[in-house]
Amino acid sequence: MARKFFVGGNFKMNPTSREQKKALVKVLNEADLDPNVEVVIAPPAIYLIPLQDLLRKEVQVAAQNCYFKSSGAFTGEISPAQLVDAGVPYVILGHSERRTLFHETSELVAQKTRAAIDAGLRVILCVGETLAEREAERTKEVVEAQLAPVVATLKKDDWEKVVIAPAHADIRAFLASAVAPEVAESVRIIYGGSVTAANSKELGSQKDVDGFLVGGASLKPEFVDIINTKRALASS
Ligand code: PGA
Repeated sequence: MARKFFVGGNFKMNPTSREQKKALVKVLNEADLDPNVEVVIAPPAIYLIPLQDLLRKEVQVAAQNCYFKSSGAFTGEISPAQLVDAGVPYVILGHSERRTLFHETSELVAQKTRAAIDAGLRVILCVGETLAEREAERTKEVVEAQLAPVVATLKKDDWEKVVIAPAHADIRAFLASAVAPEVAESVRIIYGGSVTAANSKELGSQKDVDGFLVGGASLKPEFVDIINTKRALASS
């Protein structure tokens, strides 16, 4: 089965006002969006439910994080079960900002991935090296080490629920040997890192890029052009 192009908008800790949030919704709701693209936006948790209610039904929402326990004394955390109960279909896990600023280990990310899938969520799993690691040519090793605990905890069928967001799309080969060739063939690998309307066509025409995780540009009207990248490529 063909891998459906996937564009995620990671709002991070934005917008900072409800007015701005309304403007973002208006742009998405009024845009001519390519129906062949899966569009998922990840607002801060406080906006998940209102945004889901305001957005056109073709645009789904994702949480930016969750914990691996389903309830209990874990101040500040949200559980996969709570997201499912709120009707949220996706969660981003392992974002580089979680790994670096909040010290999430790959083992914790794997535990969260397991718990999220068990609860019925789909996971946008982020992996990637730091600039220093890239400069030291350690990308392959770092990304594979980040994926290893996830590979160890997921069953083959669980990978249907996963979209992988790396800075490098060169991990299909790793999945073919570490999981299974059919999983490597079917899993969507999306590119994340400074995607804009100016570079999305070039990135989106690469063979192994099945979409994008967009940060800064997802807060701007150009996000619509990024969503429609494939359609623009097809008609050019
Ligand atoms: P960016 O963020 O597009 O602003 O680089 C991408 C991400 O970190 O999700």
